[in-house]
Amino acid sequence: MIKRVGFLTSGGDCQGLNASMRGVAKALYEHYGDKNLEIIGILNGYKGLIHGDYKKMKPEDFSGILSRGGTILGTSRQPFKMMRVIEEDGIDKVACMKKTYRYLKLDCLVILGGNGSQKTANLLSEEGCNIVSLPKTIDNDLWGTDKTFGFQSGINIATEGIDAIHTTAESHSRIFIVEVMGHKVGWLTLYAGIAGGADVILLPEIPYTVDNIVKKIVDRERSGKHFTVVAMAEGAIPKEVADLPKKEKKQAIMEQPNGTFTEKLAKDIQMATGHETRATVLGHIQRGGTTCPYDRALSTFFGAKAAELIINEQYGNMVALQGDRIVPVPLSEVAGKLKVVPVDCEEIKCARATGISFGDE
Ligand code: F6P
Repeated sequence: MIKRVGFLTSGGDCQGLNASMRGVAKALYEHYGDKNLEIIGILNGYKGLIHGDYKKMKPEDFSGILSRGGTILGTSRQPFKMMRVIEEDGIDKVACMKKTYRYLKLDCLVILGGNGSQKTANLLSEEGCNIVSLPKTIDNDLWGTDKTFGFQSGINIATEGIDAIHTTAESHSRIFIVEVMGHKVGWLTLYAGIAGGADVILLPEIPYTVDNIVKKIVDRERSGKHFTVVAMAEGAIPKEVADLPKKEKKQAIMEQPNGTFTEKLAKDIQMATGHETRATVLGHIQRGGTTCPYDRALSTFFGAKAAELIINEQYGNMVALQGDRIVPVPLSEVAGKLKVVPVDCEEIKCARATGISFGDE
């Protein structure tokens, strides 16, 4: 009997998607052989599953993609909260996804995605589809896994960005804010900030005050350091905004350009210190380009484990890194849980010990 396995990449792209699919495909072809396995690529994420857009893949499609960022299948954002909502087009998205799954006679659908995508993966699993998922995102915010693929590549790029800002900040005796991706969690900013030698690191998990940041800048001035580099997550917010009721907080964030406080903070610091302050947004370069060697290896491990789960028919699981082991975690446990940076984690304690300010004291 021919085994039929679908692949789907969902949500914001990142490095390691292609490497992960390659890992799953190679391990499955190795086990079943070319003749007994059919891989079907669902195009553009859940959108393709809803509309029945797919292509039959061949073994050669998975060659030469180990290092390539992005996704050979395309991706899209299909918010989980809208999945069961019938919109103006009248489409029942869940029914359509199940129909495509059945039409393609899939034995299993492999879903590579971040937080929202894992929730939809769990929904499909609850609806009777055989699902195995892989943890994707530069944000590293997926519960149940120590690391997601894409995270290390994102760190490398963001760190290079901070390194580059460092030299120009020093030459011009300027204060620079480098905005790093991460609206809800600050893992990427924390690691890139530490690796890039940032003096101040601002995370969504730790609200800041301008006074505390200015204090750090003044201390540095006094010790003869006439520049300061601030690594700031997209979702970092001042304490007075963090303390607002939920609705007003959301409103205050939406009123900022691009929904971040980066520009405002640059102005506030310049006003308070009289020191030229610039902001640089690293943006989507953090998610693009080449997959770094660590992510290539991690993706391959995840891929091989996903294939093992498919072969053993252990469906309804996400593969995860826990310590030095790659393990299955039930999708029902993963879905809807965000892995935020614990404010008292070792990384933050060590950073504080080396004099890094988080803007909160
Ligand atoms: O979830 C990954 C991520 O890169 C976040 O860090 C970032 O806030 C967001 O996606 C950007 O999304 P989009 O590409 O849809 O603008």
